[in-house]
Amino acid sequence: MKILVTGGLGYIGSHTVVALQNEGYSVVIIDNLSNSSKSVLSGIENITGIKPQFEELDLRDKHKLNDFFQRHQDIDGVVHFAASKAVGESAKKPLFYYENNVSTLINLLQELKKLNHQNIIFSSSCTVYGEAEAMPITEHAPIKPAQSPYGNTKQIGEEILKDTCQVNSNLRAIALRYFNPIGAHSSSYIGELPQGEPQNLVPYITQTAIGLREQLSVFGNDYPTEDGTCIRDYIHVVDVAKAHVVALSRSLKTKQTSNFEIFNIGTGKGSSVFEVINSFENISNQKLNYRIVERRQGDVISAYADTTKAEEILGWSSELSLNDAMRDAWRWEQKIRTK
Ligand code: NAD
Ligand code: UFG
Repeated sequence: MKILVTGGLGYIGSHTVVALQNEGYSVVIIDNLSNSSKSVLSGIENITGIKPQFEELDLRDKHKLNDFFQRHQDIDGVVHFAASKAVGESAKKPLFYYENNVSTLINLLQELKKLNHQNIIFSSSCTVYGEAEAMPITEHAPIKPAQSPYGNTKQIGEEILKDTCQVNSNLRAIALRYFNPIGAHSSSYIGELPQGEPQNLVPYITQTAIGLREQLSVFGNDYPTEDGTCIRDYIHVVDVAKAHVVALSRSLKTKQTSNFEIFNIGTGKGSSVFEVINSFENISNQKLNYRIVERRQGDVISAYADTTKAEEILGWSSELSLNDAMRDAWRWEQKIRTK
């Protein structure tokens, strides 16, 4: 079966291409390289022995997208990762975020409705839950007003899919709400490549340890949690990738009970910032240079997933631990800096 992966050279996309190819799918990638590089293709080939088809294309370009689909009418399913994801940047460039994350989804759905097979897996985020009232967070937890234009693009994306599925019974969509994907492929051929100063905890830790950053700032230790730092559900990116393969298979086999389904993708376990630092120190056998600073605006206190729905319906659950993810993230950091 032939699967289009948009944003397939990015962090989660590249790991998902590997997982799809390992399961025998034929993959074609669209990416505009705005947050990735062509060298990722070799990384994928080194792991799987197969170089996926790749087209450098911007999903905002309707004409080129139309031309692409004219040439690829045999696509069976789409895994749609392409989007911009920097929360802070989205507050400064809201129009760019709405265009790049929302109008691209619309462009894609407009092309998809012309195909015989209309299956799409959409990258959503736990950010839609905001500061949830109860932990762990189930898919029934209310959607909270978005804290950023980026978060809003994920909420709007889900709404667009829900509304479109309602009028197009041929379309089957699944939104996966990821919690905090971290780590890299254990081979160190692919991993996360943040541009500039990392905004996320794990790349900041590994860049500090390798000497690229002087010190990690821990944003607040006065939260109402056991050690005072925020709690998140950190999940190995390889586990996240596998969730796409099972979700896609459900969609392709028309096993969905509703045209539009939503699943949490997390481990079900919350870890504090200090626990992540401890894990890093244990697996790397070194002390991390960090200091406590003010809280970061917009951070929720705690967010971890109830994964029962994914376990029961998709038959998927995470397999790798926080230590596994930190080990792979650290190996990857060492590999890319010694190139
Ligand atoms: P990423 O930036 O590594 O990958 C996104 C890819 O899409 C990049 O390769 C980029 O070049 C490409 N792209 C962006 N705009 C494009 C466009 N207009 N046309 C074609 N290609 C385009 O990000 P990621 O971490 O792999 O995230 C993938 C998806 O998952 C995104 O939708 C993101 O919002 C979502 N998500 C990520 C996280 C996370 O923590 N990484 C959490 C929740 C949701
Ligand atoms: N943190 C630090 N120092 C840093 C970076 C992060 O202490 O330098 C802390 C944060 O305060 C937070 C935790 O580490 O408590 C995790 O922060 P991340 O930025 O790694 O992850 P977030 O949970 O804040 O953000 C992630 C995604 C966003 C998404 C959001 C939804 O990166 O795209 O989840 O909650 F919107």
